[in-house]
Amino acid sequence: MTAQRDEDREKIVSAYRSGAQVLADKFDSIGVRVADIDRTLGFCQQERPNILELGCGNGRDAQELYRRAGSYLGLDISPDLVELARMKVPNARFEVADVMEYSFPLELDAVFAFASLIHLDQEEMEDVLIRIAAALKLGGVLMLSMKYGEYRRVVKEDDFGTRIFHLYTPELIENLASSNFETIWTSQKNLRGQDWFEIILRKTNSV
Ligand SMILES: C[S@@+](CC[C@H](N)C(=O)[O-])C[C@H]1O[C@@H](n2cnc3c(N)ncnc32)[C@H](O)[C@@H]1O
Repeated sequence: MTAQRDEDREKIVSAYRSGAQVLADKFDSIGVRVADIDRTLGFCQQERPNILELGCGNGRDAQELYRRAGSYLGLDISPDLVELARMKVPNARFEVADVMEYSFPLELDAVFAFASLIHLDQEEMEDVLIRIAAALKLGGVLMLSMKYGEYRRVVKEDDFGTRIFHLYTPELIENLASSNFETIWTSQKNLRGQDWFEIILRKTNSV
C-alpha cells in the first residue's frame, strides 16, 4: 500500500470502530435492501447461491442474504461492526478483514458490496474487480452500490472521525470491469442529498 492509502485506511477503520453503534443504527434506519437483493439474485442461476458480502457493516442486509443463500460470508474491516453483525445474524459467518488483503472463497454465485467499495481508490477497485471475477463462477453476478460523481477522492469529517471515499460513475466501473464482466442492470437515486448508483455485473470470462 502507498503511504496515503495506509493513512486513509487507518482513519476509515478508526471511524467505523468509534462510531459503530451510532452508524449501525443509522444503517438500520435506512432499511434492508430487499429489492436490490431480489433483483440481483433473480439474475443468478442457482436456487441457493454461494454469497460473499464485502463491507457487510453491522449486518443490515446479512439476514436477508443469509436466508436465501446456500453459503454466506460477510467481511468487514471494523471489528466492532462485525461484532454487531454476529449478534444480528448469529448463524451466519462473518470475518474481520480488509477486502484488499483477504483471499475470497471460490465458486461464488453472487457478490454484494453495498456502499463499501466507495472507500477504494481506482487502482484498488481495478484489483478487487479482478479478484472478484476470479472468485465467481462463470455467469455469477456482482452487485455494487456506489456514491455517484466524476471520479475523485473525498474526505468527510464528522463526529466519528475522518472517512475517505471516492466518487465513481457507472461508466468508470464498467470500464474497469470490462475484461471480465458485462453490465446487466444500473440505476441512480438520491438518498439524503447524496447521489448513488447501483450496478449489477455478470461474469462473462472464465478467469
Ligand atoms: C458505508 S458502510 C456500509 C455498511 C453496509 N454495507 C451497509 O450498507 O449498511 C461501509 C462499510 O465498509 C467497511 N469497509 C470500509 N473499507 C473496507 C475494507 N477495505 N475492507 C472491508 N470493509 C471495509 C466499513 O467498515 C463499513 O462497514
